[in-house]
Amino acid sequence: MTDSAASGDFAPSGEAAPSSDAADFVVVANRLPVDVVRDADGTLTWKQSPGGLVTALKPILAARQGAWVGWPGAPDVGDGPVVGDGMTLVPVQLSQQEVNEHYEGFSNGSLWPLYHDVIVKPEYHREWWNTYVDVNRRFAEATASVAAEGATVWVQDYQLQLVPRMLRMLRPDLRIGFFLHIPFPPVELFMQMPWRTEIIEGILGADLVGFHLAGGAQNFLYLAKRLCGYNTSRGQVGVRSRFGVVSVGFRSVRVGAFPISIDSAELDRTARTAETKARAKRLRRELGDPAKVMLGVDRLDYTKGIDVRLRAIGELYAEGRLDPAEHVFVQLATPSRERVESYRTMRDDIERQVGRINGEYGRVGHPAVHYIHRPVPRDELLAFFSAADVMLVTPLRDGMNLVAKEYLACRPDGGGALVLSEFTGAAAELKQAYQCNPHDLDGVKNAIDDAVHQDREEGRKRIRAMRRQVLQYDVDLWARSFLDTLSGHIDTVRDTGDGQ
Ligand code: ADP
Ligand code: G6P
Repeated sequence: MTDSAASGDFAPSGEAAPSSDAADFVVVANRLPVDVVRDADGTLTWKQSPGGLVTALKPILAARQGAWVGWPGAPDVGDGPVVGDGMTLVPVQLSQQEVNEHYEGFSNGSLWPLYHDVIVKPEYHREWWNTYVDVNRRFAEATASVAAEGATVWVQDYQLQLVPRMLRMLRPDLRIGFFLHIPFPPVELFMQMPWRTEIIEGILGADLVGFHLAGGAQNFLYLAKRLCGYNTSRGQVGVRSRFGVVSVGFRSVRVGAFPISIDSAELDRTARTAETKARAKRLRRELGDPAKVMLGVDRLDYTKGIDVRLRAIGELYAEGRLDPAEHVFVQLATPSRERVESYRTMRDDIERQVGRINGEYGRVGHPAVHYIHRPVPRDELLAFFSAADVMLVTPLRDGMNLVAKEYLACRPDGGGALVLSEFTGAAAELKQAYQCNPHDLDGVKNAIDDAVHQDREEGRKRIRAMRRQVLQYDVDLWARSFLDTLSGHIDTVRDTGDGQ
């Protein structure tokens, strides 16, 4: 593979890693932190992969000089490890059929909707499951071949839930952690899954299993007992009863809550630079210097409630509670999982909504809603955060939502306001947000109205309190608390003050 200027802030050198270079620390995730893109002339170039998992883990792995095992984001590419930005990338090659059945099928057509409150109906197909098992085995084998004797391996997310058990069978010497980046569903929903016992057994191959919230950990503990018949106990480790323990034969598997975060100091620093401030000013000018800029930043996913906020804004314009000439809305939407049917339907719906609102309320050269269906470069994104008076984060369900935290980190000026769905993991920590129930349209409208028209001092108080939380509990602390618990250095977790 070749590197490229198009790769943005991450460019692997393309240098082959020596095979003898076994790693002491290995992250295993469905995706590598960079995607391979095939250009028209057949050249392969890199670009940063989408999503919060990569945002969170990239700085962690770069600091620890480990290896990252993952799929390069396109079928039939990726031979041999390459070195870049202080880490070794170990690509797992997947065929088109494996991408269809493991990634688009079982991961994003069965697990993703099931774990997100069945917002879309999950489909269960035996071929998808069989390929999920095969691909998980391939990831386990690739990991077994790069991990040094006694290494720490951290397996990530719903696409790889069988890897911990498979890896333990191949390499009992490893210390294995597993973290789920999306919500772990209520027991009644999880029980739909035809291969529910296999999934719980798969995860229990780990020594430590982490979720964002205590509720997810509790659901998992209950299922380990009910489906697999293991003895479980709660609150045996640590003073805040955040852990449970599952006894699997002679092994003890610890289960706990570790709310993920961001590299907040780095964002705070960048937001303070003259360059970001100038960019933010320029953005507002380009938007016509409106009184208030509202912003949404998401992967284009049906869980994110982009339709909810558009409906709310449309009604607020109609009722005259917002003025389209004064209150503009910018939605940045990264393309996501575009071959999955439910994502295509949702994109059409959202684009129709944007068109309808602009048809009713836009003026020539001054749309009420600006919609950009492309990933925005990082610097530009931070300028958008700095420029936005009101950040709209309205998912129907979200494991954490890093965007909410990124927005706060980018407001060292104390300005802005956050409208936040109660159904995000972030809501447990960010109590001073304008919280709303995304299923209650009037509630969402009121939250937006309140945020747009907030008293300046009251707003600053809220932002200051939330920034304290985000700056103090950053991604490094998240990773350290998980890894120190995994290594046995600490037997308790941090108190986030979120009462979970
Ligand atoms: P998810 O992991 O479900 O996509 P998160 O909010 O946790 O949701 O993380 C999304 C990450 O992707 C954040 O780091 C955010 O800044 C980034 N992101 C989302 N939308 C865009 C966009 N349009 N352009 C650039 N980055 C984006
Ligand atoms: C979420 C998931 C990640 C996933 C990311 C992007 O953050 O938790 O596992 O990588 O979305 O989705 P994608 O399907 O593009 O990998």
